[in-house]
Amino acid sequence: MEQASPKLFGVPTGTKLDEMFWKLERGEEGRFMRKPLGGIPYLSVINVTGVPDSGKSVLVEQFAIVQANNGYRVLFVTVESPANFLYTSMKTKAEYLGADFSKVTKNIIVIDASVNEEFRENPKALMDTMAYAIKEKQTNSVIIDSVTGLYEHKEIMARQIVRVFFNFLKRWKQTGIFVSQKRSSHDSDSADAAGGLAVAHIVDGTIVLDKKLIRTRWDVNLYKRPLGSVMRTIRIDGCRLTGHDTRPWVFEISPGGTIEILSPLEELI
Ligand SMILES: Nc1ncnc2c1ncn2[C@@H]1O[C@H](COP(=O)(O)OP(=O)(O)OP(=O)(O)O)[C@@H](O)[C@H]1O
Ligand SMILES: [Mg+2]
Repeated sequence: MEQASPKLFGVPTGTKLDEMFWKLERGEEGRFMRKPLGGIPYLSVINVTGVPDSGKSVLVEQFAIVQANNGYRVLFVTVESPANFLYTSMKTKAEYLGADFSKVTKNIIVIDASVNEEFRENPKALMDTMAYAIKEKQTNSVIIDSVTGLYEHKEIMARQIVRVFFNFLKRWKQTGIFVSQKRSSHDSDSADAAGGLAVAHIVDGTIVLDKKLIRTRWDVNLYKRPLGSVMRTIRIDGCRLTGHDTRPWVFEISPGGTIEILSPLEELI
């Protein structure tokens, strides 16, 4: 069992999330101390969920660029946005992040399921193609944006489909991020994605993104933001593999389309 358990270290996202996962290490005086993991846990499969426009795609694209720029191969399965849109979006972000775009194009392998109905309807067909890419390109991590698009019109199948892809990533020893959509803003900072809690229960950890419109005088006073503005938060909702910060943090999307995590929400209030 010991030899089978993966070493605990972080796979960087290029955001402050990297310091929000931690491990315990014994300090000099023999006391345990939190040490930032430096990324999402290696070989974990993390669910990124949130309402529309909350920044899920922005976050996973940034992760892909940071990984690619560090010389690691990423398999990006795009289910929502066609590959050419993804390309444009990645280009802006890479420039903004000062990443080498030639590395980005070389190290990010895209499977476009947005234009391929069979990939969306038939998990086996998609996984065969993914397996080929993982093997041939020697990828280290896999992003699916979004898994919700793989069980559209059949949400009762959500659990089964997510489980199959989760096991697939484990079998191929990939660090993974599944984006899952939340249908409504009701309880918008909870982890239950479309298809119920299927995704959150299966994966190793969940990150919830939320977007709140400042619409009342109360909001203005509480959050100290102008009326009509948008406040975004990010929170690690749970992770089986490692300790983590549990607080919601306020973040912004930069003009270059990247995530900038600013401060814990409690410090704002
Ligand atoms: N390059 C950019 N510059 C500025 N803002 C950007 C850029 N790219 C994305 N955004 C903004 O980030 C916000 C979040 O977009 P994103 O596509 O990440 O949402 P999402 O959570 O993936 O939504 P959905 O569930 O609809 O896929 C949008 O308001 C978008 O306009
Ligand atoms: Mg998206």
